[in-house]
Amino acid sequence: MTSVAGSPDLTIDPPYDATEYRSTALRAPAQPLVLIPSRLLDSAGPVFGDRGVRPSDADLTRQHEGEPIGERINLSGRLLDDSGRPVAGQLVEIWHCNAAGRYAHPVDQHPAPIDPNFSGAGRCLTAADGTYRFVTIKPGAYPWGNHPNAWRPAHVHFSVFGRAFTERLVTQMYFPADPLLAVDPIFNSVRDKHARQRMVSTFDWVTTEEQWALGYRFDVVVGGHLATPHEAQS
Ligand SMILES: [Fe+2]
Repeated sequence: MTSVAGSPDLTIDPPYDATEYRSTALRAPAQPLVLIPSRLLDSAGPVFGDRGVRPSDADLTRQHEGEPIGERINLSGRLLDDSGRPVAGQLVEIWHCNAAGRYAHPVDQHPAPIDPNFSGAGRCLTAADGTYRFVTIKPGAYPWGNHPNAWRPAHVHFSVFGRAFTERLVTQMYFPADPLLAVDPIFNSVRDKHARQRMVSTFDWVTTEEQWALGYRFDVVVGGHLATPHEAQS
Protein backbone atom coordinates (compact mmCIF):
# COMPACT_ATOMS: atom_id res chain seq x y z
CA MET A 1 0.00 0.00 0.00
CA THR A 2 1.40 3.41 -0.95
CA SER A 3 0.47 6.46 1.08
CA VAL A 4 -1.05 9.61 -0.39
CA ALA A 5 2.36 11.25 -0.11
CA GLY A 6 3.76 8.59 -2.44
CA SER A 7 5.97 6.78 0.04
CA PRO A 8 5.34 3.23 1.24
CA ASP A 9 3.38 2.54 4.42
CA LEU A 10 6.22 1.01 6.43
CA THR A 11 3.84 -0.72 8.80
CA ILE A 12 3.06 -2.98 5.83
CA ASP A 13 5.40 -2.48 2.90
CA PRO A 14 9.19 -2.47 2.69
CA PRO A 15 11.07 0.81 2.16
CA TYR A 16 12.12 1.59 -1.40
CA ASP A 17 15.74 1.42 -0.27
CA ALA A 18 16.14 -1.63 1.98
CA THR A 19 19.77 -1.66 3.15
CA GLU A 20 20.14 -5.44 3.42
CA TYR A 21 18.61 -5.93 -0.05
CA ARG A 22 21.55 -4.34 -1.80
CA SER A 23 20.23 -3.72 -5.28
CA THR A 24 17.39 -1.55 -4.00
CA ALA A 25 20.02 1.18 -3.50
CA LEU A 26 20.34 1.32 -7.30
CA ARG A 27 16.61 1.47 -7.91
CA ALA A 28 15.09 3.46 -5.08
CA PRO A 29 13.86 6.91 -6.15
CA ALA A 30 16.29 9.68 -5.21
CA GLN A 31 13.73 12.41 -5.91
CA PRO A 32 10.24 12.92 -4.48
CA LEU A 33 7.68 10.88 -6.39
CA VAL A 34 5.49 12.54 -8.99
CA LEU A 35 1.92 12.32 -7.80
CA ILE A 36 -0.70 11.32 -10.32
CA PRO A 37 -3.78 13.57 -10.31
CA SER A 38 -6.48 11.88 -8.27
CA ARG A 39 -9.03 12.20 -11.07
CA LEU A 40 -7.01 9.66 -13.03
CA LEU A 41 -6.92 7.25 -10.10
CA ASP A 42 -10.61 7.55 -9.36
CA SER A 43 -11.70 6.40 -12.79
CA ALA A 44 -12.91 2.85 -13.32
CA GLY A 45 -10.51 0.10 -12.37
CA PRO A 46 -9.14 -2.69 -14.52
CA VAL A 47 -11.66 -4.93 -16.25
CA PHE A 48 -10.72 -8.31 -17.65
CA GLY A 49 -13.02 -10.18 -19.94
CA ASP A 50 -12.82 -13.94 -19.95
CA ARG A 51 -11.45 -14.00 -23.47
CA GLY A 52 -7.77 -14.71 -23.68
CA VAL A 53 -7.49 -16.46 -20.31
CA ARG A 54 -7.91 -20.19 -20.80
CA PRO A 55 -8.61 -22.62 -17.95
CA SER A 56 -5.43 -24.46 -18.92
CA ASP A 57 -3.40 -21.33 -18.14
CA ALA A 58 -3.92 -22.12 -14.45
CA ASP A 59 -2.26 -25.54 -14.65
CA LEU A 60 1.50 -25.08 -14.90
CA THR A 61 2.03 -28.85 -14.97
CA ARG A 62 0.31 -29.29 -18.33
CA GLN A 63 1.89 -26.68 -20.53
CA HIS A 64 4.28 -29.11 -22.23
CA GLU A 65 4.28 -32.65 -23.55
CA GLY A 66 5.45 -34.18 -20.29
CA GLU A 67 4.94 -33.30 -16.66
CA PRO A 68 7.49 -31.19 -14.82
CA ILE A 69 9.69 -32.76 -12.14
CA GLY A 70 8.79 -31.72 -8.63
CA GLU A 71 6.31 -31.84 -5.80
CA ARG A 72 2.88 -31.17 -7.32
CA ILE A 73 0.84 -28.60 -5.39
CA ASN A 74 -2.65 -27.15 -5.50
CA LEU A 75 -2.21 -23.46 -4.81
CA SER A 76 -5.39 -21.54 -4.11
CA GLY A 77 -6.77 -18.65 -2.13
CA ARG A 78 -9.00 -15.63 -2.33
CA LEU A 79 -8.49 -12.09 -3.52
CA LEU A 80 -10.04 -9.77 -0.94
CA ASP A 81 -10.43 -6.02 -0.57
CA ASP A 82 -9.73 -3.91 2.50
CA SER A 83 -13.09 -4.90 4.02
CA GLY A 84 -12.59 -8.62 3.45
CA ARG A 85 -15.00 -8.69 0.52
CA PRO A 86 -14.15 -10.91 -2.46
CA VAL A 87 -12.77 -9.25 -5.58
CA ALA A 88 -14.25 -11.15 -8.51
CA GLY A 89 -13.20 -11.35 -12.15
CA GLN A 90 -9.70 -10.00 -11.65
CA LEU A 91 -6.50 -11.28 -13.13
CA VAL A 92 -4.08 -13.23 -10.93
CA GLU A 93 -0.70 -14.02 -12.47
CA ILE A 94 2.04 -16.16 -10.94
CA TRP A 95 5.57 -17.03 -11.96
CA HIS A 96 8.28 -19.06 -10.26
CA CYS A 97 11.38 -21.18 -10.81
CA ASN A 98 11.39 -24.93 -11.28
CA ALA A 99 11.85 -27.54 -8.56
CA ALA A 100 15.62 -27.26 -8.90
CA GLY A 101 15.53 -23.52 -8.32
CA ARG A 102 16.13 -22.40 -11.89
CA TYR A 103 14.06 -19.99 -13.97
CA ALA A 104 13.39 -20.67 -17.63
CA HIS A 105 15.00 -17.35 -18.47
CA PRO A 106 18.32 -16.55 -20.18
CA VAL A 107 19.46 -14.36 -17.29
CA ASP A 108 19.35 -17.32 -14.90
CA GLN A 109 22.56 -19.22 -15.57
CA HIS A 110 23.25 -20.83 -12.21
CA PRO A 111 24.18 -24.54 -12.40
CA ALA A 112 20.81 -26.18 -11.78
CA PRO A 113 18.95 -28.08 -14.49
CA ILE A 114 16.36 -26.56 -16.78
CA ASP A 115 13.13 -28.55 -16.82
CA PRO A 116 11.93 -28.82 -20.43
CA ASN A 117 8.40 -29.42 -19.17
CA PHE A 118 8.15 -26.33 -17.03
CA SER A 119 7.86 -22.71 -18.12
CA GLY A 120 6.87 -21.35 -14.71
CA ALA A 121 4.09 -18.89 -15.52
CA GLY A 122 0.33 -19.11 -15.05
CA ARG A 123 -2.73 -16.93 -14.81
CA CYS A 124 -6.41 -17.09 -14.01
CA LEU A 125 -9.38 -14.91 -13.19
CA THR A 126 -10.90 -14.85 -9.73
CA ALA A 127 -14.32 -16.46 -9.32
CA ALA A 128 -17.39 -14.74 -7.86
CA ASP A 129 -16.19 -15.50 -4.33
CA GLY A 130 -12.71 -14.14 -5.12
CA THR A 131 -11.15 -17.60 -5.35
CA TYR A 132 -8.22 -18.38 -7.59
CA ARG A 133 -6.71 -21.83 -8.18
CA PHE A 134 -3.47 -23.01 -9.70
CA VAL A 135 -1.85 -26.40 -10.10
CA THR A 136 1.92 -26.22 -10.19
CA ILE A 137 5.04 -27.70 -8.61
CA LYS A 138 6.79 -26.43 -5.51
CA PRO A 139 9.68 -24.18 -6.53
CA GLY A 140 13.19 -24.74 -5.21
CA ALA A 141 15.50 -22.35 -3.41
CA TYR A 142 18.04 -20.54 -5.58
CA PRO A 143 21.27 -18.61 -4.99
CA TRP A 144 21.50 -14.88 -5.64
CA GLY A 145 24.34 -12.43 -5.46
CA ASN A 146 23.13 -10.20 -2.65
CA HIS A 147 25.75 -11.38 -0.13
CA PRO A 148 28.04 -14.41 0.33
CA ASN A 149 26.18 -17.73 0.20
CA ALA A 150 22.84 -15.99 -0.28
CA TRP A 151 19.85 -18.23 -1.09
CA ARG A 152 16.27 -17.16 -1.65
CA PRO A 153 13.60 -19.13 0.18
CA ALA A 154 11.18 -20.94 -2.12
CA HIS A 155 8.66 -18.42 -3.36
CA VAL A 156 5.98 -17.77 -5.93
CA HIS A 157 5.71 -14.32 -7.51
CA PHE A 158 2.18 -12.93 -7.60
CA SER A 159 0.62 -10.07 -9.51
CA VAL A 160 -2.99 -9.18 -8.76
CA PHE A 161 -5.34 -6.38 -9.71
CA GLY A 162 -7.91 -5.06 -7.27
CA ARG A 163 -10.90 -2.91 -8.06
CA ALA A 164 -8.82 0.17 -8.79
CA PHE A 165 -5.47 0.70 -10.45
CA THR A 166 -4.09 1.87 -7.10
CA GLU A 167 -4.75 -1.63 -5.73
CA ARG A 168 -2.37 -3.35 -8.16
CA LEU A 169 -0.15 -5.55 -6.05
CA VAL A 170 3.01 -7.43 -6.96
CA THR A 171 4.32 -9.60 -4.16
CA GLN A 172 5.94 -12.91 -3.30
CA MET A 173 4.34 -15.86 -1.56
CA TYR A 174 6.45 -18.08 0.66
CA PHE A 175 6.04 -21.56 2.12
CA PRO A 176 5.58 -22.25 5.84
CA ALA A 177 8.51 -23.34 8.04
CA ASP A 178 11.15 -22.50 5.44
CA PRO A 179 14.47 -22.07 7.32
CA LEU A 180 15.66 -19.50 4.77
CA LEU A 181 12.91 -17.02 5.69
CA ALA A 182 14.77 -15.90 8.81
CA VAL A 183 17.80 -14.80 6.80
CA ASP A 184 16.19 -13.54 3.59
CA PRO A 185 16.73 -9.79 3.11
CA ILE A 186 13.75 -9.47 0.75
CA PHE A 187 11.30 -11.18 3.12
CA ASN A 188 12.71 -9.24 6.06
CA SER A 189 12.61 -5.89 4.28
CA VAL A 190 8.97 -5.94 5.38
CA ARG A 191 9.60 -4.74 8.90
CA ASP A 192 6.43 -5.73 10.70
CA LYS A 193 6.40 -9.41 11.66
CA HIS A 194 2.63 -9.68 11.26
CA ALA A 195 2.84 -8.16 7.77
CA ARG A 196 5.66 -10.59 6.90
CA GLN A 197 3.49 -13.48 7.99
CA ARG A 198 0.82 -12.38 5.52
CA MET A 199 3.24 -13.33 2.73
CA VAL A 200 3.52 -16.93 3.96
CA SER A 201 1.07 -19.52 2.65
CA THR A 202 -0.47 -22.19 4.87
CA PHE A 203 -0.50 -25.91 4.30
CA ASP A 204 -4.09 -27.02 3.68
CA TRP A 205 -5.59 -30.50 4.04
CA VAL A 206 -8.83 -29.42 2.35
CA THR A 207 -7.13 -28.88 -0.99
CA THR A 208 -4.62 -31.69 -0.53
CA GLU A 209 -5.55 -34.57 -2.85
CA GLU A 210 -4.75 -38.17 -2.05
CA GLN A 211 -2.11 -39.66 -4.34
CA TRP A 212 -1.91 -36.40 -6.24
CA ALA A 213 -0.94 -33.07 -4.70
CA LEU A 214 -0.35 -31.10 -1.51
CA GLY A 215 -2.55 -28.08 -0.92
CA TYR A 216 -1.36 -24.60 0.00
CA ARG A 217 -3.59 -21.60 0.60
CA PHE A 218 -2.68 -17.97 0.20
CA ASP A 219 -5.21 -15.17 0.49
CA VAL A 220 -4.24 -11.83 -1.03
CA VAL A 221 -5.64 -8.62 0.47
CA VAL A 222 -5.46 -5.39 -1.51
CA GLY A 223 -5.64 -2.26 0.62
CA GLY A 224 -6.37 -1.61 4.27
CA HIS A 225 -4.34 -2.27 7.40
CA LEU A 226 -4.32 -6.03 6.79
CA ALA A 227 -3.06 -5.72 3.21
CA THR A 228 -0.61 -8.21 1.78
CA PRO A 229 2.74 -6.37 1.57
CA HIS A 230 4.22 -5.42 -1.78
CA GLU A 231 7.55 -6.97 -2.58
CA ALA A 232 10.57 -4.72 -2.05
CA GLN A 233 9.92 -1.90 -4.48
CA SER A 234 12.07 -0.41 -7.12
FE1 LIG B 1 12.04 -15.20 -7.71
